[in-house]
Amino acid sequence: MKIIRSQGPAPAGELAGLRARLAVAEETLRAIRSGEVDVVLVTVGKGVQLFTLDGAEQSYRVLIESMNEGALMLAADKTILYANQCFARMVKCPLEQVIGSSFRRFISTKDRTTLQLLRQRIAASGTKIQLLLQVSDGTQMPGHLSIRPLAQSDCKSATFVVVVTDMTETRRSEERLRTLTNRVVQAQEAERGHLAHELHDTVTQMLCAVLVRSHTLVDKLPARNEPAKQEARDLHEIIRGTVEEVERISRNLRPSVLDQLGLIAGLHDTSTEFANRTGVTVKMVCVQLAMRLPADTELALFRILQETLHNVEKHARARHVTVQLTKPGDFVQLTINDDGIGFDPDHHPVRRKGRGGFGLLGMRERAAYVGGVLKVKSTRRAGTEIEIRIPLPPSGKVPDGVGRKKLAKSSQRKGSAS
Ligand SMILES: Nc1ncnc2c1ncn2[C@@H]1O[C@H](COP(=O)(O)OP(=O)(O)O)[C@@H](O)[C@H]1O
Ligand SMILES: [Mg+2]
Repeated sequence: MKIIRSQGPAPAGELAGLRARLAVAEETLRAIRSGEVDVVLVTVGKGVQLFTLDGAEQSYRVLIESMNEGALMLAADKTILYANQCFARMVKCPLEQVIGSSFRRFISTKDRTTLQLLRQRIAASGTKIQLLLQVSDGTQMPGHLSIRPLAQSDCKSATFVVVVTDMTETRRSEERLRTLTNRVVQAQEAERGHLAHELHDTVTQMLCAVLVRSHTLVDKLPARNEPAKQEARDLHEIIRGTVEEVERISRNLRPSVLDQLGLIAGLHDTSTEFANRTGVTVKMVCVQLAMRLPADTELALFRILQETLHNVEKHARARHVTVQLTKPGDFVQLTINDDGIGFDPDHHPVRRKGRGGFGLLGMRERAAYVGGVLKVKSTRRAGTEIEIRIPLPPSGKVPDGVGRKKLAKSSQRKGSAS
């Protein structure tokens, strides 16, 4: 708390005295404007008169000033009427310059429009929003804003109260977590490739040999020993089914078709296998792509389709699925619709109980890794739509990703082994 002691009037005619009074008055004004003052003591004659500043509540001020969050009061036109020191530090601007400024000054240009669009909601009930604050040194700071309108009776001139949280550390942690997740996904892809290779080179080859031998056995068994012959035929069929299943697992593990024949063939392959296996009809509508997309993008879209179809099989009880690949502007978009039971994406059981269910999360991460966005639109009894939109590099600059080179090597090895 700062107490300003104002001296009584100086003897008239003394220039130095007037200068001193002017300096004190200026300091007093500065301190009052910057919110440092609670009480002004003025010497009047022989006594002292005490002036408590309007609204100055010491305990509230201590609370507000000791917060780790920025706290502001805004007028209807978004002029800052009050701000704490923490906010001034966040935006690296002296408090006396913050107070009296427009709040828009401290919001990044892009997010000013967002706030503008939300103005009706803010005026009615307030909002919570994450945006970039504009710092005085030209940098930007990620912040979380909680804006509440004040009831008319709460404060004479203030209309909104805003609490600002610095999200820099949270963003960094999220970034680190995302990098870690991507590494895990890449390691998983590499391991899947290794496993597919091993399966193909060892298990499939051995099973194929057993398949041939079981066929020979059927031929060699005499016709008069029909029960043994039938047993051998059944065995042959079981082995054939096992070979197909191992090949399917191997294909899912390593999408070699994706690498060799491209995204559309990869999506087609997965959809056909899904339709044949589950009996759900799949309609595919794909735009013609003039050239291969970056390897990471192709792999992300392919894996997201796999996971989505897996969810349709597991949860949707759908009869029809539509897979659409479009190229709106500089984006590639994959939209997958099902006509199943749907769910509430914000309140599905997995989120509520906080366990399991990494499918949707993994899809989002895969999309984010290639700069894309994944949207889930679903309503109970009205099906589900998964939409992934990924930006493409400027035309003619499609990088041949490391992933594809690795895939090519692996498929060549596969080709020569079989
Ligand atoms: N196509 C769908 N139709 C109906 N419900 C779905 C669909 N996709 C996802 N869900 C719901 O979302 C939840 C989370 O999915 P996901 O993250 O893939 O986890 P998991 O499949 O392991 O449960 C599912 O448990 C299910 O309730
Ligand atoms: Mg799932």
